[in-house]
Formats: sequence, C-alpha cells, structure tokens
Amino acid sequence: MIAKPPQMTAANASAFALQSVVDTYHLRTPYPPALARVLLKFVAETRSPILELGCGTGEITRALAPHVSRIDAVDISAPMLKRAAAMPGGNAPSIRWIESPAETFEFDGPYTLAVSGDALGWMDWGVVLPSIGRALTPRARLVLITAVRGETVWDGALLEVIKRHSVYPEFESYSLPERLATLGLWTVEGGRRVGPTRFTRTIDEFVESLHATGGLPRDRMADAASFDVEVRELLAPHAQDGVLDLFGYADLTCGRPNVDG
Ligand SMILES: C[S@@+](CC[C@H](N)C(=O)[O-])C[C@H]1O[C@@H](n2cnc3c(N)ncnc32)[C@H](O)[C@@H]1O
Repeated sequence: MIAKPPQMTAANASAFALQSVVDTYHLRTPYPPALARVLLKFVAETRSPILELGCGTGEITRALAPHVSRIDAVDISAPMLKRAAAMPGGNAPSIRWIESPAETFEFDGPYTLAVSGDALGWMDWGVVLPSIGRALTPRARLVLITAVRGETVWDGALLEVIKRHSVYPEFESYSLPERLATLGLWTVEGGRRVGPTRFTRTIDEFVESLHATGGLPRDRMADAASFDVEVRELLAPHAQDGVLDLFGYADLTCGRPNVDG
C-alpha cells in the first residue's frame, strides 16, 4: 500500500457515512454552475458512459446526467447515495447509483470520461488509478476536481480554531494531483480553474458546513459545542445581518492514469 498523508485513512473516510455529515453536506462550498459545461468538453466519445468515483450527494453526477447516455456514480457510503438519489435530478434515467468501495468496484466501461471531486484522496491510489486507466477509452481522461472557497480575511484565525478541534491527530497539507504524478500513477495534461460562483451562508449554516468535513464530524469531536461558539464569535464581525458573503471555485486537473500503477 502506498504511503498517504496521515489523515487520509479509511477510518477517517467513514465520517461520510455519518447521518449528521450527510445532513449538512449541502452547506459546503458549492461547485460553480459552469462546471458541468466545462467537464462535458472533456468527453471523448459522446455515446460511451461516464464514471464518477466518490460521488457523495451527487452534485457533479446530477449536473452531468441530462447530457450523457449513462453515468456510473460510485460511493462507499449508503447514506450519501440515498441522499443523492433524493435530490433534484437524482432520478435521471442515465444515473446508476452504485454502493461500492472504488477499490472493488467492477468497472463497466469503457468510459469516455472519469471524474472525482474531493474523493479520490480517500481511496487506495495504487489500486484505483490503474483500474480507472484500464476502464477508459483510448482518448478518455480522468479529471480530478477540488472545491475551493475564495479567500477571506478571517481564514487564518479560522484555521487556528480548526487545528485545535480537528479529530485528526496528524495532518499533512498536500496536492492530490501532484502527489499522484510524483508517484507515477498518472500523467497530468493540464488544469484550469472554473468560477468564481458567489454564495451566502448564515453563520450557523457555515458552522454546520465545517462539520460536513472529514476533520470535524460533530459526532466524533471531543467538544463540538465549544468549537461552534468559537467559530460563531470569530465570524460575527464579518457577517451582515448574520449572513456571510462568500465565493467558490472548482480547480480541475486533467490527465491519464498509468495502467501499470
Ligand atoms: C468529500 S466527499 C466528496 C463527494 C462529492 N464527490 C463532492 O464533490 O461533493 C468524499 C466522498 O468519497 C467517498 N469515499 C471515500 N472513500 C471511498 C472509497 N474507498 N470508495 C468509494 N467512495 C469513497 C465518501 O463516502 C464521500 O461520499
């Protein structure tokens, strides 16, 4: 097994099966509406299916579904998939919601595009990257997507609070596309930023969005109540009538997995 940053374990990934995480997941930084249009430009052969690994509540899959013949949306978390199917567009006939670890999924390609949004980092890279590579058509690409919240003046102070309350005993900041390239697991061909998209959150909604991350699941934190108080106090001076004005991006990196691993 390839060494990964210490927080990227299967045990920490299981936070995405907690109902409290699923219930607040929609409050995280949204992807820009233009994302689906940009991803569709990567489609190599329009009649072949598309794959999303670690689809969560299916924000990307549901946006792509009306434009493709089939999209296989795979996730290890049954509660995530149940929520995805119940959300707007979740019943599109082109979507197959598939509950499976990516590592043991029986890929039903060849796929004309594979995407993964903030999810592949949790998987066993040495198994999953070659499997994706073997399941793609010859011209198809894997696109890794990261949701990025635009900078604010309070980011540094918030990070200090997060560090004190995180359930991760150890944390390493890293770039997934770069790490996979260094390991020889894929060859990067390009990247681009989509957005910004503007969005608002009440302070309470923003606090809940932080609990929808692997490092701060409410049910696993030692003192979630104190965390909430600290974050609310920190954000209050920056909100207007209790509402934060925010913006988000999607960072895309495109490449080809190396099938030999
Ligand atoms: C941060 S969420 C991202 C969800 C979605 N792609 C998005 O962009 O909003 C990570 C997702 O990866 C899933 N996941 C983690 N490890 C996985 C694995 N080994 N196989 C399949 N899915 C996995 C989790 O259940 C979770 O839904």
